[in-house]
Amino acid sequence: MSAPVPLGNFDWEPASWRRHAAAQQPEWPDTGAVEQVVDELRRQPPLVFAGEARSLKASLAKVVEGEGFLLHAGDCAESFAEFSADSIRDKLKVILQMSVVLTYSTGVPTTKIGRIAGQFAKPRSSPVEKRDGQELPSFFGDVVNDYAFDAESRRPDPQRLLRGYNQSASTLNLLRAFTKGGFADLTRVHMWNQEFVASSPEGQRYERIAAEIERALRFMSAIGIDLADAQSLHQVDVWTSHEGLVLDYEEGLTRRDSTTGDWYDCSAHMLWIGERTRQPDGAHVEFFSGVGNPIGIKLGPTATPEGVVELAEKLNAEREPGRLTLISRMGASRVRELLPPLLRAVREAEHQVVWACDPMHANVFKTESGIKTRRFDVIVDEIEGFFAACREEGVWPGGVHLEFTGDAVTECLGGSDTVLEEALTTNYMSLCDPRLNARQSLDLAFHVAELMRDAWLGPAPA
Ligand code: PEP
Ligand code: CO
Repeated sequence: MSAPVPLGNFDWEPASWRRHAAAQQPEWPDTGAVEQVVDELRRQPPLVFAGEARSLKASLAKVVEGEGFLLHAGDCAESFAEFSADSIRDKLKVILQMSVVLTYSTGVPTTKIGRIAGQFAKPRSSPVEKRDGQELPSFFGDVVNDYAFDAESRRPDPQRLLRGYNQSASTLNLLRAFTKGGFADLTRVHMWNQEFVASSPEGQRYERIAAEIERALRFMSAIGIDLADAQSLHQVDVWTSHEGLVLDYEEGLTRRDSTTGDWYDCSAHMLWIGERTRQPDGAHVEFFSGVGNPIGIKLGPTATPEGVVELAEKLNAEREPGRLTLISRMGASRVRELLPPLLRAVREAEHQVVWACDPMHANVFKTESGIKTRRFDVIVDEIEGFFAACREEGVWPGGVHLEFTGDAVTECLGGSDTVLEEALTTNYMSLCDPRLNARQSLDLAFHVAELMRDAWLGPAPA
């Protein structure tokens, strides 16, 4: 294929990724059936509009300048079975609560992006799974195959992509209703505190902020400010995102924007490229180089300064601020050593990007009884290391990328409600990675707010 050209990739088309090696793609048993599904996706309405993706890019451009913070959070993997209005509402409550804590404590606006309405497909470290001598394809997420361990369930079925599209459409529909139709109105700030959260120390701390916000709103109203007119009190933007993994799906939902003539992947506002699919000459980088959405790239311990700059050139040669979010996931023990050279190289190459910290994906371990988990204090430690690295290099610590659920699950250890190892099995729901529960998420937001205040105000006097 073409050598990189400085002013964009002229050979790009929605299907040009097919000329590149594509990691982590399902082995669809019947290629004709996939082609039919991609055709059908092409005929479906887009889930998001190009103009929305551009608004999100503008909001992320503020983060690049240090005038905003990115809260990028949601499920590890959405599922067909765990799909309900309540679970969408409860996730939204956590995002709204966390963003209130971050914004109220720091005075910096929060750009909110959910891992939601399309976060189905999962990259796997091994394409096959073995149990009791039987070997079957790994579970690649509900849009590819079924979790149950038998040959029929694990066979990739492209019809699942259509079901994923439809579930994403319903999820987004409800999300738009909640965020624009009154539920996210700041006067309802108390109602986002779920019962099982409100009784906890972090829930009570949240209540105090909520009470102060209410007092401020009453004050403004008392001095004659017309709050009914202030749109930003009554509606919020919660943008959607997922890992752009299954390229048949992403291609099928790619549309040319009628106002600019540019291509956008209309499956979500933002897409990110995972740690396992960020090969500079690979299909994912090729595909996302040609769409106008904001794009994220996960960067794990093998990322090199030259490699990261190469990716930034391929995906954002024009250096458009807000286009690229680099998501560091180095592990708590290595972030302080591995991140500074990357921050430096990107700055020296004059790439303006959002730097975000994913403190989840390099801190997973198995307990002695074989349960996949993460420790709350290690998660906090990676975020602290990220802030320290950013401070060292004079780079704005732009955001966090988290896996949580609104439910009272027991998947991650620790936090102020101290989930103990024995308790892990009491409510372990995840089909994939362990997620923070609503209390742990709120607790984490307070930690991040404190780190942000320090970053904003500079180092504390000795
Ligand atoms: C994920 O975000 O769910 C994921 C698989 O992350 P990573 O690509 O960083 O491993
Ligand atoms: Co995950």
